[in-house]
Amino acid sequence: MTSEGNLLDVADLRTRYPVRRSIADRLARRPRQWVRAVDGVSFSLRRGEMVALVGESGCGKTSTAQTILRMVEATSGTITVDGQNITTLSQRRLRPLRRGIQMVYQDPYESLDPRFRVRQTVEEPLLVHGIGTSKSEREELISSALERAGLAPAALYLNRYAHELSGGQRQRVAIAAALALDPVLLLADEPVSMLDVSVRAGVLSLLDGLRRDGRLGVLMITHDLSTAAHFADRIAVMYLGRIVEYGPARQVVSDPRHPYTKALLSVVPNRDPRVRNAAQILSGETPNPVAIPAGCRFRPRCPIAEDRCADIDPALGPPGSGGSGSGGTLASRVGRAGQYGQASQAGHAGVADVASYPDHEVACLLA
Ligand SMILES: Nc1ncnc2c1ncn2[C@@H]1O[C@H](COP(=O)(O)OP(=O)(O)OP(=O)(O)O)[C@@H](O)[C@H]1O
Ligand code: SF4
Ligand SMILES: [Mg+2]
Repeated sequence: MTSEGNLLDVADLRTRYPVRRSIADRLARRPRQWVRAVDGVSFSLRRGEMVALVGESGCGKTSTAQTILRMVEATSGTITVDGQNITTLSQRRLRPLRRGIQMVYQDPYESLDPRFRVRQTVEEPLLVHGIGTSKSEREELISSALERAGLAPAALYLNRYAHELSGGQRQRVAIAAALALDPVLLLADEPVSMLDVSVRAGVLSLLDGLRRDGRLGVLMITHDLSTAAHFADRIAVMYLGRIVEYGPARQVVSDPRHPYTKALLSVVPNRDPRVRNAAQILSGETPNPVAIPAGCRFRPRCPIAEDRCADIDPALGPPGSGGSGSGGTLASRVGRAGQYGQASQAGHAGVADVASYPDHEVACLLA
């Protein structure tokens, strides 16, 4: 994994939130505690590529996206978009670049203003960024964005209010509002989880198609490993603020290495009803980002943990670093160049060259 030519490089990113202190805490002068929501995340993404960030609720997926978008500030680490380090850019210098990074939210019912017609919803970001000098120029951009989002002919939708659209159409309008700005990077946070099952595939195919023309890259956040396996080139599995496994999607799902990935996959229903997976229900304490266990953070729930797992905090290193991002020894940096050097994803031809990303990395001592 090298940072050369990447659209997005995230290196050892950390984001923490203060835990609100009670009056009793203040009186007793107890030190402030922190939610370590993102705790050393590293990955990269190319134009034309879709990377899926998967993991259970509360593991830090949304916080990772919000930090990349600079909606929340990183505590440390770096975010590089199209070769430019944006981690600490001032809001003024960030503003023109923000246009290139757009987020699609989970709930299209909340993300669209019910008082706006579709035309206004898609026009608003253009006005905010000063794009389109005349009403007619903006009208063209709006129509083109709607049609790119699969709402064609655009004239059918321009004058409708959000309540006059189906859930799938609302999400397409939200995507059109993002596309109107011609972004290079789309961050899609659970983009179909609020939609009826019947329209999910259509919206996912839309995102898939958008990145296939090579103009933009998509970071898709999802709980659903089977969706990730179907659409993404690469999967990053996140646990308690950290990516614990990262690699070509097919290899992550067909040959998972980290015990957490194995547990996640064991509960994904098999398409063939005759094949039953032995579901591996994780026991142990619920992960708590305020008190991340010492050593390997997965240890309290890991079915194969050994004593030595208490001493080392395995982590995947920043892109191209060849080392651990957290200072711990990454004894488990397995499956590197050579082993997966020939990996390619049939059916994903024309998009990011997965073979040029040979790494399948696992943050586990024993994987
Ligand atoms: N603004 C905030 N202030 C304090 N804690 C927060 C804040 N936002 C998120 N958290 C905490 O940070 C952790 C990560 O939250 P985040 O929303 O990033 O997880 P997630 O993986 O997106 O979860 P989900 O799948 O449920 O959306 C959680 O413990 C959450 O409670
Ligand atoms: S290092 Fe690997 S084996 Fe040890 S606790 Fe962590 S995940 Fe389990
Ligand atoms: Mg979330």
